[in-house]
Amino acid sequence: MKKTSLSILLLASLVGFAAAQSGSGGDGPGESNVTAYWTDYNATHNNWDFNASHVSCARILGRKPLEWRKKYGWTGFCGSVGPQGDAACGLCLRVTNYIDNETKAEEKVRIVDACGGAGALELDFETAFMPIDIDGNGNSTGHLNVDYNFMDCDDSDELENTLLVSSL
Ligand SMILES: *[C@@H]1O[C@H](CO)[C@@H](O)[C@H](O)[C@H]1NC(C)=O
Ligand SMILES: *[C@@H]1O[C@H](CO)[C@@H](O)[C@H](O)[C@H]1NC(C)=O
Ligand SMILES: *[C@@H]1O[C@H](CO)[C@@H](O)[C@H](O)[C@H]1NC(C)=O
Ligand SMILES: *[C@@H]1O[C@H](CO)[C@@H](O)[C@H](O)[C@H]1NC(C)=O
Ligand SMILES: *[C@@H]1O[C@H](CO)[C@@H](O)[C@H](O)[C@H]1NC(C)=O
Repeated sequence: MKKTSLSILLLASLVGFAAAQSGSGGDGPGESNVTAYWTDYNATHNNWDFNASHVSCARILGRKPLEWRKKYGWTGFCGSVGPQGDAACGLCLRVTNYIDNETKAEEKVRIVDACGGAGALELDFETAFMPIDIDGNGNSTGHLNVDYNFMDCDDSDELENTLLVSSL
């Protein structure tokens, strides 16, 4: 019974999430059941500053407003599907952690870094790993098995940001 209500709660928030995503024309490329490790970008501690967190996308992303930088949790990306390396900087992924047959936890994250290549993703511990590690299994094993798909970031302020960056 407890499990059921948890699932319903999660599904309800997932439906809200899905509704917010609709209109972006469906999912982009992705992979299933890849390994996501955690890393510590200290995003919140560093006020979501790309330079302070030493992420490889810092130069490419330039001066984005705080609202943009903190809109989604951060991830390093080294999956084998979709844009690679610098071309992936700033793009968004939907990451899904399947807990069991009835429950999944889903989030949207932004690519801010490359990673070592051992897994497909390195999720920022606080802003991207813990939020979907709802059964604590990832924290105890050090990784999650997840699906990812490229998604629209819904950055309505993208044009302004681009103009701001190109004027530097
Ligand atoms: C996902 O991959 C792991 C090994 O990396 C495997 O043990 C597990 O069975 C896979 N899960 C699914 C649903 O395929
Ligand atoms: C994050 O903060 C911890 C201490 O709180 C520090 O040891 C670590 O080097 C920091 N990492 C980054 C990437 O800033
Ligand atoms: C990050 O560092 C680069 C190069 O050192 C600099 O041009 C840029 O202005 C810095 N960005 C921020 C937000 O401080
Ligand atoms: C999950 O679904 C698979 C395939 O339908 C089934 O073999 C497995 O027993 C199910 N696991 C649980 C915990 O219900
Ligand atoms: C994660 O696991 C460590 C032990 O490996 C534990 O000390 C810590 O409290 C856990 N963190 C959370 C948020 O569960």
